[in-house]
Amino acid sequence: MKFRTLGSSDLEVSVISLGSWLTYSGGIEADQTRACTEAAFDAGINFFDTANVYGCGAAEEAWGEILKDHPRDSYVLATKVYGQMSDDEADQGLSPEQISKQIDASLTRLQVDHVDLYQAHRFDDQVALEDTVEALQQVVADGKARYLGFSEWTPEQIKAAIEIGGEDLFVSSQPQYSMLWRAPEDQVFPLCMDHGISQIVWSPLAQGLLTGKYKPGQDFPADSRFALESMNAAKDVVYSEAAVEAVQRLVPIAEGVGVSLPELALAWTLRGPELASAIIGASRPEQVHANAAAAGISLDDDVVAACDEALADVAVTGQTLGVNATPYIKRR
Ligand SMILES: NC(=O)c1ccc[n+]([C@@H]2O[C@H](COP(=O)([O-])OP(=O)(O)OC[C@H]3O[C@@H](n4cnc5c(N)ncnc54)[C@H](OP(=O)(O)O)[C@@H]3O)[C@@H](O)[C@H]2O)c1
Repeated sequence: MKFRTLGSSDLEVSVISLGSWLTYSGGIEADQTRACTEAAFDAGINFFDTANVYGCGAAEEAWGEILKDHPRDSYVLATKVYGQMSDDEADQGLSPEQISKQIDASLTRLQVDHVDLYQAHRFDDQVALEDTVEALQQVVADGKARYLGFSEWTPEQIKAAIEIGGEDLFVSSQPQYSMLWRAPEDQVFPLCMDHGISQIVWSPLAQGLLTGKYKPGQDFPADSRFALESMNAAKDVVYSEAAVEAVQRLVPIAEGVGVSLPELALAWTLRGPELASAIIGASRPEQVHANAAAAGISLDDDVVAACDEALADVAVTGQTLGVNATPYIKRR
């Protein structure tokens, strides 16, 4: 495993990290959740990303039961706040009351006294930004989180928050980023670089699409995320038949370098200094090991260029926050 420093923090995070979104919130069984998480520790992964809203607390609870068997200083733990947590429509967002309530609930479920990184899962335009920033800073002042981050904020929102909270307010940005989703490259990446904020990116394998296991004209493999209704909440963000076809153009490139498709996709994602970590998901421990192997691979410029060319007609580029419209996180 390789490690990078998270923004201006003193946290060293593994370049491949494990996330718990559709998987450990109930998408797979508890024993598989444990097997995948233990596989991550075995592979040298020390960085774990979850959110209060994943399974409405279920993902945090699942990891609380597993992580308690590991020394607290052996892993870096990140969670998030924003999503709706009950039938009460007021039970969401980034108001001071909600942040104060949700951090305590997350710590209880995770069975820890602090998280290393507390992230605003989305921007809340229903609350004064000054109030949100102050409430997040209070979480740190209370010792409940060591550092702060955000996920899927626009450049304007990031700048406004830094103006209020200062240069050291945030250490991380969590956008969707992969060979197929390059939206944050143009604006969010350089802005964050200027302010010492690292990228920790989600769905670096485009939810499995970039592994090449989805084949043109064929049914989705049984037990794959796109075949399982319980696990395909955001499939349409990345899936199209054109993308499935384009990914097959990566096969000869990967063969030429002597790596697997997941390794190629993850090494491509990690090629720049903006990234601290690629947050993978895994439904099986073998996937964790296969993906962790990408940590040691660096790609030559001509290989990167060939990948870019192969996916040029399907990759999403240019600043867009279309993902904000996906139902699993939208403010209701
Ligand atoms: N901030 C946000 O708004 C946000 C949004 C989404 C996710 N996230 C974070 O990012 C994490 C990762 O997201 P993700 O799960 O979409 O990431 P991903 O790594 O792009 O996709 C993971 C899925 O791809 C399949 N897969 C992974 N490795 C494979 C391999 N070697 N061979 C074949 N299939 C493989 C598995 O699904 P199957 O085996 O079921 O097919 C796995 O669950 C989440 O857990 C969460 O922590 C954050």
